[in-house]
Amino acid sequence: MEFRHLGRSGLMVSEISYGNWITHGSQVEEDAALACVRAALDSGITTFDTADVYAGTRAESVLGRALKGERREGLEIFTKVYWPTGPGRNDRGLSRKHIMESIDGSLRRLQTDHVDLYQAHRYDYSTPLEETMEAFADVVRSGKAHYIGVSEWKASQLREAHALARELRIPLISNQPQYSMLWRVIETEVIPASEELGIGQIVWSPMAQGVLSGKYLPGQPPPAGSRATDEKSGANFIARFLNDDVLSRVQRLKPLAEQAGLTMAQLAVAWVLQNPNVASAIVGASRPEQVHDNVKAAGVKLDADLLKAIDEIVEPVTERDPAKTESPAQRP
Ligand SMILES: NC(=O)c1ccc[n+]([C@@H]2O[C@H](COP(=O)([O-])OP(=O)(O)OC[C@H]3O[C@@H](n4cnc5c(N)ncnc54)[C@H](OP(=O)(O)O)[C@@H]3O)[C@@H](O)[C@H]2O)c1
Repeated sequence: MEFRHLGRSGLMVSEISYGNWITHGSQVEEDAALACVRAALDSGITTFDTADVYAGTRAESVLGRALKGERREGLEIFTKVYWPTGPGRNDRGLSRKHIMESIDGSLRRLQTDHVDLYQAHRYDYSTPLEETMEAFADVVRSGKAHYIGVSEWKASQLREAHALARELRIPLISNQPQYSMLWRVIETEVIPASEELGIGQIVWSPMAQGVLSGKYLPGQPPPAGSRATDEKSGANFIARFLNDDVLSRVQRLKPLAEQAGLTMAQLAVAWVLQNPNVASAIVGASRPEQVHDNVKAAGVKLDADLLKAIDEIVEPVTERDPAKTESPAQRP
């Protein structure tokens, strides 16, 4: 495993981190979840990402059980707040009330007294940013979180939050956006602003939810047990990538991966890590073999000719519009 600083902070994270969206507490059984976390730890992954909302709060509990007994100082545990965790109108968003209640719920489920990074899962247009940042400052000062991050925030929102964080003297060090060969919307605005502010990216769905592993073939039903067959939630989220144009182009990446001595999954994960503002690629897994495959992307350097060849193949199906970095206009 290789490690990078998260933004302009002293915190180091593993280049590959492990995330449990869709899988823990939902798509996969507990024993598979525990085996995946074991595989991650055995492969040198130290950074784990979850959220209060995943699987209706069950994902945090599964991760808490999976990491129980590990040396806490050897782990970086990240969670998030914003999406609904209950039926009430205050069980969501970035109000002071919800942040204070949600951090306690997350810590209880994760069986720890602090998280290393506490992230605003989206921007909340119904709460003054000052209220949110002051609540985050109190979370940090009470020792419940060491650092603050955000997810899918626009460049202008990062600037505003960063200015408040400086005033409050709390470390806002990261953004968590979607980023892959097929989704490059952060490159023109979010990354330049982040570089200037000392914010690092921890990117999600680097494999476009499994699509860039090459296992979905054009014109054919998805493989058994894959996310596209998970009717509980996965099938819904991955649908945006499952069209024949995307899938045919992805198949054309196969010889490039072979030439580079990589699997397609490793090529996809290594690709996001070529961007120096990316501190870590969060990969998901439904089985331990996937973790063992994906971690080999750490430390891989892709040469300029290979990057150019990839661009030529995927460009027509790559999303680059910076306006796609967005949060709900209304609190959900
Ligand atoms: N901040 C946010 O808003 C946000 C949103 C989404 C995700 N995230 C974070 O990002 C993490 C990763 O997201 P993701 O799960 O979509 O990432 P991903 O790495 O793009 O996709 C992971 C899925 O791809 C399949 N896969 C993984 N490795 C494979 C391999 N070597 N060969 C074939 N298939 C493979 C598995 O699904 P199957 O085996 O089921 O096909 C696995 O669950 C989440 O857990 C979460 O922590 C954050």
